[in-house]
Amino acid sequence: MTTPDQQPARPGPGGAPATASARPAGAVSPEAVRTVACVGAGVIGGGWVAHFLARGYRVTAWDPAPDAERRLRDLVDSAWPALTRLGLAEGASVANLTVAPTLAEAVAGADFVQESAPERLELKVELLAEIDAAAPEHVVIGSSTSGYSMTEMQVRAARPGRLVVGHPFNPPYLVPLVEVVGGTATDAWAVEWASEFYRAAGKSVITMDRELPGFIGNRIQEAAWREALHMVANGEATVEQIDLAMTAGPGLRWAFFGPCLTFHLAGGEGGMAHMLDHFGPSLKSPWTRLESPELTPALRDAMVRETDEVAAGRSNAELIAQRDRRLIAVMRALAEVEAEEAREAQEARA
Ligand SMILES: NC(=O)c1ccc[n+]([C@@H]2O[C@H](COP(=O)([O-])OP(=O)(O)OC[C@H]3O[C@@H](n4cnc5c(N)ncnc54)[C@H](O)[C@@H]3O)[C@@H](O)[C@H]2O)c1
Repeated sequence: MTTPDQQPARPGPGGAPATASARPAGAVSPEAVRTVACVGAGVIGGGWVAHFLARGYRVTAWDPAPDAERRLRDLVDSAWPALTRLGLAEGASVANLTVAPTLAEAVAGADFVQESAPERLELKVELLAEIDAAAPEHVVIGSSTSGYSMTEMQVRAARPGRLVVGHPFNPPYLVPLVEVVGGTATDAWAVEWASEFYRAAGKSVITMDRELPGFIGNRIQEAAWREALHMVANGEATVEQIDLAMTAGPGLRWAFFGPCLTFHLAGGEGGMAHMLDHFGPSLKSPWTRLESPELTPALRDAMVRETDEVAAGRSNAELIAQRDRRLIAVMRALAEVEAEEAREAQEARA
């Protein structure tokens, strides 16, 4: 379906043909972006501001709340030590942030706009139309929305072709994933442009070829979350047990191999094919409230073929060696941080 860092020819939502178009001659190249406008500067917008500043961009921000500038500068200041530890781009500085008095001034000189206003459809529809009216021609506009499709949000924009979803994960200044997808009226070039830009800005990008409620990351997260809620509601597990089950179990592996590559290894030498043939019948067992799709030969083959693609020629032994090494790296890093935290807590008490 979709894989990270691929730029497929993009069919439109639901598989319909996309609004195909070449990048307009006047569009700045994604690598040449210098100034990013961030519209809405709360938890996510502020996190984007911190990320773009740390990657060396100039940022102009706008947020209508009276205390927005103070909140934004506090957020950036508190993120900056972590970003400095992580490594700043050349020229990166908090001084590259300008808080603009109006939306129009914020976007006037931007090479890209990231919208992170509250999650209310009417507000997004109006705001995206306003940004579209004020931003220079050919500048791509990304929305951080967690739940709305761009098809729903772009209806009042005069130039909807440049509107895309660029869905981040909190905090955007640390978690790399951005999911990019257009709506029915989005031009294919804008989806490609945004994907290339986010990549140039240090993000891990999934370019989606169709709109999907919740995108990909949240659908996987939501499945685990709803099952956790069911287990608590039924007295089957406590919050403590659920969190430990994840942080001492699958969560550790999922930090570097996703659920598919992890299960490929559960199949031993036979990989995903053996895993599905062996555990296929368990899909009918009540191990979760989420129903499994029918494990048809076509689904089995797709899982085997695509997992092989992700394994990219690595043998079972090589994958096991990588898994073990990465598990140890993650566990050691966590142990180190926990020891540091304990030392700091002791010093604070002394
Ligand atoms: N919080 C998350 O974990 C998360 C993760 C991914 C995506 N998102 C999405 O990011 C967006 C922002 O969410 P948030 O959690 O930062 O919310 P938030 O409430 O922290 O921030 C929203 C900001 O928008 C400002 N605002 C209000 N009206 C505005 C307007 N008309 N124009 C511009 N700004 C306006 C508010 O003053 C506030 O500072 C939402 O679409 C949300 O779904 C959130």
